[in-house]
Amino acid sequence: MGSLGDAVDTDRESWDGLEMSYYTVSPNRWTFRSDKIREWVEERLTGRVLNACAGRTKLVHDDRIVRNDIDVDRDADLHVDVCEIADHFEPETFDTVVYDPPFSQYQSNRSYEGRNVGDDALAKRQIDELLSPGGRFIQFGFTTTGMPMSLGYERQEVAIFNTLGRMNDYLAVVDEKPGELEAGPRWFK
Ligand SMILES: C[S@@+](CC[C@H](N)C(=O)[O-])C[C@H]1O[C@@H](n2cnc3c(N)ncnc32)[C@H](O)[C@@H]1O
Repeated sequence: MGSLGDAVDTDRESWDGLEMSYYTVSPNRWTFRSDKIREWVEERLTGRVLNACAGRTKLVHDDRIVRNDIDVDRDADLHVDVCEIADHFEPETFDTVVYDPPFSQYQSNRSYEGRNVGDDALAKRQIDELLSPGGRFIQFGFTTTGMPMSLGYERQEVAIFNTLGRMNDYLAVVDEKPGELEAGPRWFK
């Protein structure tokens, strides 16, 4: 798992309070082209947002969304590898990070010309640097292993998007960084 270390088991005694939801969707290589998924994500955005592997779909939100994609053909504010994205912003300057990378090497080869996240743990360490205390991490993929609980992140939600047998179901998680979000505008947009 790279420099963040292996995922470790959590001491959380019960998952009773965990919010879980379930949907059926038509899969698309641009994940948020599905209205149900796009709305699910948009409802969970708060404050200044980084869309770290932005793809094609533009999310609607009442605050700034910074779009990044390694593919220069994507309409984005910057085109860097998410594994080095913390070099491009001040630390702890995003309230939400959306992380929707290629879900597998197969999907990367098939839909994104082989572009992929080489080291998921490194990408997550970068994201952790950029997230404000109390900030929200929203991930899509074939796993619910999100941000490391060893860093104090708390799992808030899990959603399952049943792709009706067309491919593996999509899984989404919302993890919250420890601390309190500050109120009001804090950064240059
Ligand atoms: C699943 S798609 C994102 C789809 C997007 N949410 C949408 O609805 O349009 C994954 C994106 O990650 C980008 N990507 C792949 N490797 C990346 C990397 N290392 N850093 C940043 N972006 C990357 C791909 O170019 C692709 O656009």
